[in-house]
Amino acid sequence: MIDSDPELHTVPPDRRSDDQQPRWRRDFPIDWPQDHYVARRDFTKFLCLTSFAFVVGQCSIAYQNWRRKRRGEPPIVKIADLERLSVGEALVFSYPIESEPCLLLRIDETKFLAYSQKCTHLACAVTPSFKEGQLLCPCHKGHFDMANGRALAGPPRRPLPRITLQVRRDGIYATGVERAMT
Ligand code: FES
Repeated sequence: MIDSDPELHTVPPDRRSDDQQPRWRRDFPIDWPQDHYVARRDFTKFLCLTSFAFVVGQCSIAYQNWRRKRRGEPPIVKIADLERLSVGEALVFSYPIESEPCLLLRIDETKFLAYSQKCTHLACAVTPSFKEGQLLCPCHKGHFDMANGRALAGPPRRPLPRITLQVRRDGIYATGVERAMT
């Protein structure tokens, strides 16, 4: 049935009703009410698909963490959204447990690094100096290389434990702790 009000419904050239129109005309309507309907329908589809992808992603992480826990491995934990940090900024987070502070560093557009924030001398909190490319401990002037966590100067002898990362489309995830001895 075709609406007679031209403001609400454009009459197709062949004057047949909507359900008799070819598929392409239904998907690309030329009248506003139908166009809005298609836009809403596509938006709803998009929302459903992205929600589904999110749920699948979260279930996959939950399953991996269940397996990791059984093997005594640290969990996979989301630290931040990608856009949360600008280049040359740092973010404090806890990993693999609440009482273990760590630092996430954005080195450039694509490179992120993360280390335990506890100095390997006497566990003071290190802070980043992007200008020097180092992590500095204020307690006894310990210096660590930002590129690899290696101890460069001061009392610390051991490198900072490195947090392994995974950069995914929806954010940056911590996946484990590497403890080098030298
Ligand atoms: S606690 Fe960091 S240098 Fe001593």
